Amino acid sequence: MSILVTGGAGFIGSNFVLDWLAQSDECIVNLDALTYAGNRENLASLAGDARHQFVQGDIGDRALLDRLFAEHRPRAIVHFAAESHVDRSIHGPGAFIKTNVEGTFSLLEATRAYWSRLDDKDALRFLHVSTDEVYGSLAPDAPAFTETHPYEPNSPYSASKAASDHLVRAWHHTYGLPVLTTNCSNNYGPYHFPEKLIPLVIVNALAGKPLPIYGDGQQVRDWLFVGDHCSAIRRVLEVGRLGETYNVGGWNEKTNLSIVHTICELLDELRPSPEGSYKRLITHVKDRPGHDRRYAIDARKLQRELGWRPAETFETGIRKTVAWYLDHQDWVQRVQSGAYRDWVARQYAP
Ligand code: NAD
Ligand code: TYD
Repeated sequence: MSILVTGGAGFIGSNFVLDWLAQSDECIVNLDALTYAGNRENLASLAGDARHQFVQGDIGDRALLDRLFAEHRPRAIVHFAAESHVDRSIHGPGAFIKTNVEGTFSLLEATRAYWSRLDDKDALRFLHVSTDEVYGSLAPDAPAFTETHPYEPNSPYSASKAASDHLVRAWHHTYGLPVLTTNCSNNYGPYHFPEKLIPLVIVNALAGKPLPIYGDGQQVRDWLFVGDHCSAIRRVLEVGRLGETYNVGGWNEKTNLSIVHTICELLDELRPSPEGSYKRLITHVKDRPGHDRRYAIDARKLQRELGWRPAETFETGIRKTVAWYLDHQDWVQRVQSGAYRDWVARQYAP
């Protein structure tokens, strides 16, 4: 038996692949285009492991998808591949439409063709990994997003993810494709590309660079340790009800400014700077256009129906994360300089 994972060289995907193979001998076919966000070095510990087959390719390449389905006959597809950074989507939305909308369409169609030829149609699962950002921005005192909250995406990124969620839903209702969708809050943890808030702040602080806070820094995000997102996905894949969506979150609403303060305090403790607290580097900069003020996830459906609970609190997760970045300065250095591409090319040269 095997599963097909898309985007498994990115932040969450690589954590998912590593966690999966730490707990199961079921093989993974990992399809990833290796955009700037894909890094095979994240999977270096799997070198020579026959349970992991890496395929460099695009989810928009239908012929490749058909070949992979025919060759590996996966029992499930776990779809992470996406353009994922809001700021990039503001500067260049085209890639987001291409991968998140058209790419998901291509993957759905290839899955449907494969599924239509299966004898046991109930055995397949297509799990679509999505985000809480599709629900838009919450007022300060509004209740957290439930699965029935209206879709009100505000950025090109969230609009493209919302579009992909709608396609997945329609492929279930129209064709009966056995789909599951998860909408998760902001993740953090190892292998997070240092363009996103938490790794950027850790890496900049250690380099003595400014810690950029957009606007007043009072925007709220709901943070979940990446390992807990992975365990939620495994749980939904195992026992989720077909056609359902599940919100994933850990009840950790924090303002951006408080996140940055926490990281500075941890660094002050673990790697004190002779120049004083890292908080001196905090710099307020121009706000992001259309910046959503607050996200918050109500994950009670997942807890009640599937018995999932996060293992980490924010305090334990952020400490682990800061420690990971301190221990993996070489990874950071290669990602920041772009040398991860050379490193990967050397390790995986034919
Ligand atoms: P990421 O940007 O770190 O990784 C994306 C991966 O997809 C990369 O390895 C990239 O090479 C690959 N990819 C991009 N375009 C591709 C294409 N056309 N074909 C094949 N592979 C392609 O993203 P992430 O943070 O790991 O997010 C993974 C998924 O989880 C995304 O769908 C994202 O929307 C969703 N999500 C992310 C968060 C978060 O906080 N990061 C929260 C909720 C949901
Ligand atoms: P980010 O990590 O980009 O995730 P998302 O936009 O998907 O929530 O940003 C998290 C929050 O941090 C968001 O409110 C924007 C803010 N932010 C900053 O204040 N400064 C930064 O340099 C970055 C990258 C983000």
